[in-house]
Parts: sequence; C-alpha cells; structure tokens
Amino acid sequence: MKIDAATRKVHQMAVAARRRAYAPYSKFKVGAALEGSGGRLYSGSNVENASYGGTVCAERVAILKAVSEGVKKFKQIVVVTDAKPPAAPCALCLQTMAEFFDPGTRIHLASPMAVLSTRLFSELLPLPFGPRQLRGER
Ligand code: THU
Repeated sequence: MKIDAATRKVHQMAVAARRRAYAPYSKFKVGAALEGSGGRLYSGSNVENASYGGTVCAERVAILKAVSEGVKKFKQIVVVTDAKPPAAPCALCLQTMAEFFDPGTRIHLASPMAVLSTRLFSELLPLPFGPRQLRGER
C-alpha cells in the first residue's frame, strides 16, 4: 500500500517497538506508534504479565505514554503484528481510543514490512461510548 513519508516514519517506529515486545507467554509480539496532533511520536509494545490479566497491549502503552505527557489529540496510529490478514486493535484498546481519538483518526494495520490496511477509527468502532456520550452529545 502507498503511504506518505510521515506514516512511513510512524511505521518504522512501530516496527522498532515490536522488537521490544515482552510477550513470553503468548509469543504474539505487537508494536504500536502514535502521532500526536503536534507531530510528536509515541511508541508502545505489548507487556505481558505472569498474572495474564495484567497484560497491557501495545496500543494502550503508546496512548498512555502520550496522555501522561500531556498529548490527548492524535493524527494516526500504526499497529504492527505478523498476523495475516493484519490484526486490528482489541476491543479494550478501541475503548481507550474512544476516549481520545476522533472518528477520522487513521488506524494503520501493518506487518513489519508494510502498512497493509488503513481504516478510520469510526470504521473500527462505529458506535463508541466515549466522553461525548457522557456529555449527552452525538
Ligand atoms: N495484543 C496487543 O498488544 N494489541 C491488541 O490489540 C491485541 C492483543 C497483545 C496482548 C497480548 O500480549 C498478545 O497480544 C496476545 O493477545
């Protein structure tokens, strides 16, 4: 798939993050990289736990790193796995995205070699429960 230079950089960062995945139990390594509205990049990898429920996904690691540094608006995220077809974020990660992403935030599903599919957040979670719903907005 054709991607622009900015997305290529985010993809490279997600590939590097995936190499740091801590996945001794599932062996399923995930890397994510997120571009904030100001252009800064944040990466994450999945971090598993011997108490399996303590595992945190790559996407949430990246989002929590950004938010904890004060960045709450995002342009795009790249998620790298070696799944074929490429894996989409899990429902817990989509719920975390619902807190911060706009319907038009781009989610790129990728292998280590390439971005394979690009979706809008609204395509992956068309009926979110998020801050707008709590405020009584649409
Ligand atoms: N995982 C992610 O990092 N992101 C997802 O969206 C789906 C699942 C991780 C969690 C766990 O370490 C491994 O993949 C297998 O579920």
